[in-house]
Amino acid sequence: MQQPARYLITSALPYANGPKHIGHLAGAYLPADIYVRYLRSAGRDVVFVCGSDEHGAAITMQAMKEKTTPREIVDKYHALLKSNMADLGISFDIYHRTSDPLHHETAREFFQSLNDRGLLEKKSTEQFYDEQTETFLADRYIMGTCPVCGYDGAYGDQCEKCGTSLSPEQLIQPRSTLSGAPPVKKSTTHWYLPLDKYETFLREWILEKHGGDWKANVVGQCKSWLDAGLQPRAVTRDLDWGVRLPEGLPGSEGKVLYVWFDAPIGYISATKQWAADHQKDWQPYWNSPDTKLVHFIGKDNIVFHCIIFPVMLSLKGHILPDNVPSNEFMNLEGDKMSTSRGWSIEMDEYIRDFVHTENGGPMMVDALRYYLTAIAPETKDSEFTWKGFQDALNSELVAIFGNFVNRTFVLMHKLCQGKVPALHPSCLDDADKAMFAAMKETAGQVSSGIEQYRFRDALFDVIDLARKGNRYMQEKEPWILAKKLEQNDATEEEKKIAREKIDNCLHTCLQLTANLAILMNPFLPNTARSMCRMMKVVEKMLDWENAGKPKLLSVGYSLRAPELLFRKMEDSEVLIQLEKLKAKSEALQQQKNMNEQTTTETTQPAHTALKPEIVFDDFAKIDLRTGTIVSAEKVEKADKLLKLEVDLGFEKRTIVSGIAQHVNPTEIVGKQVIVVANLAPRKMRGIESNGMILMAEDAQDKLHFVSADAAAGNGSTVS
Ligand code: 2FM
Ligand code: ZN
Repeated sequence: MQQPARYLITSALPYANGPKHIGHLAGAYLPADIYVRYLRSAGRDVVFVCGSDEHGAAITMQAMKEKTTPREIVDKYHALLKSNMADLGISFDIYHRTSDPLHHETAREFFQSLNDRGLLEKKSTEQFYDEQTETFLADRYIMGTCPVCGYDGAYGDQCEKCGTSLSPEQLIQPRSTLSGAPPVKKSTTHWYLPLDKYETFLREWILEKHGGDWKANVVGQCKSWLDAGLQPRAVTRDLDWGVRLPEGLPGSEGKVLYVWFDAPIGYISATKQWAADHQKDWQPYWNSPDTKLVHFIGKDNIVFHCIIFPVMLSLKGHILPDNVPSNEFMNLEGDKMSTSRGWSIEMDEYIRDFVHTENGGPMMVDALRYYLTAIAPETKDSEFTWKGFQDALNSELVAIFGNFVNRTFVLMHKLCQGKVPALHPSCLDDADKAMFAAMKETAGQVSSGIEQYRFRDALFDVIDLARKGNRYMQEKEPWILAKKLEQNDATEEEKKIAREKIDNCLHTCLQLTANLAILMNPFLPNTARSMCRMMKVVEKMLDWENAGKPKLLSVGYSLRAPELLFRKMEDSEVLIQLEKLKAKSEALQQQKNMNEQTTTETTQPAHTALKPEIVFDDFAKIDLRTGTIVSAEKVEKADKLLKLEVDLGFEKRTIVSGIAQHVNPTEIVGKQVIVVANLAPRKMRGIESNGMILMAEDAQDKLHFVSADAAAGNGSTVS
């Protein structure tokens, strides 16, 4: 296949609303960095862009929480994220920010270009509004009691106590977080991207073109979205903080671009800024079909990068991503990683505890990069444990990789006067030849692993090569051969052979060390640099074209003393971290309980205990659909039963429901409901019932309908 003329690599722009944890690092930043470092070493034209996502409710909510302004929040966390990423060796060509005027201009112009060409639709809908502060309320700005667990501090999009996804309509006694007033519905007009029009394009592009080469998790998620049917999506919001709409546009006052419309355009503005800083042209990177665009993201960002942004890009005439390698999540010590619950290792924390310390430094950056890659959640969720980190560091990096390099250098100084010994072809044996063959073979495996986004496998291949090196040295035993040189009864011929064997062994091990430096460089750049120092070679040697070559170090070249590449992690350090994690999450929990106590003035009703846990597959068997009741009548001689006709969009169903004592049949016609649509038919009072209506039962045993936002339409799947 022809090589792309250039690469544009992006990592998801993190919200500048707080520190980010190592799960984020493992998901979208470290794999991208490995890929980019590899491409650079292979001499490809590559630009790696990222930056802070500085708009949206994530920012304004944090400003409220810290009792400050959004501007202060983004300034503070942008600086933190930028420096954390640099400290951990993430080598962006630019780390930009979406509050930059260049970004505002770029995003606004993008919107205007679509709107001018009639590609956006304008629609009025009813949205929640706070009359006291005269503000439209994003879902996060509405709080109330969770209908599932009774928690009084649930948000309009989610209850953080029980994790249920909610809509503001579902909250009991909703209130605005700005004024405490109950929100009212008010009509507002917004611009929509009509995604529904591009379903065929997306199906062809994702499922047909990339169904085979993108990761299965990415294709699967896209397919579910497409199968559920795409809806027009609002790309503007009634807010103050964000990218203003183009001036003079009728109806644009008080509105900004929706954060998920402007954030991915941040990749373009970052590229523009990089180009301006380096006297380059940004356009080929976004407009030329021979550019390979790759978005590295976490799985919660798939729909935005595979469905919404590609539609925007194609409407604007830009290129589409060649791949969107998305990772699953990384858990921590048996639980989901979460900054807000304190169950996390923030990048900043790790840097403070392990990097900016006396016995830490760059080698501990590489130790983290190693473990995060070794357990990368490439195809399924994975788990970080401190014990696992210690094992990876002590038994792999120290005992295999570091040990091989160290032994090679120590023996070379002891047995070869600190110089690269000659290779004596006459006494080359199969084991020597096999080592050279392994270097070549591994170079091929590592590059194909990286090019296919299989970073774990590629890293294991490097470690495996070091393991082979250890075995080779162990079998050759140059320290035993060295005794022969001292032996009085050894003949000159025997001594010559021993000398040549020692030379061959250490020559091979040194060439292997040089190869290991090249192969490890994308993953552990600090280690590769230390190895270059020890070998007294310039970093140019790390160019990928040298990978697998047998003569990287010249015979007779004198090398430095070995440096310690890694240090061991002590049991006590593991314990300290485990204690710290526990203490942090407990402190945050306590803080939350205190906040809860102050917000919960009324006693909560008792709630039914949760049923035993189920796995996702149990839930996935239930086919839930939205529908509308089109008729309702009492079932004769049955006090509790109503016979309902429900329109599911694709068909009408008769459903017998035990709700007669809770609702008035004449009042429920037109009501939207959620139906268990694949429940086996059942006869009740001689009537066949085909499905079940979902009802919520309150503390007084009264039943209430559960419904979706009417915009979902009949027949929509519910999950
Ligand atoms: O999920 C997030 O953290 C978003 N800030 C990611 C944005 S990625 C891109 F679109 F900018
Ligand atoms: Zn809840």
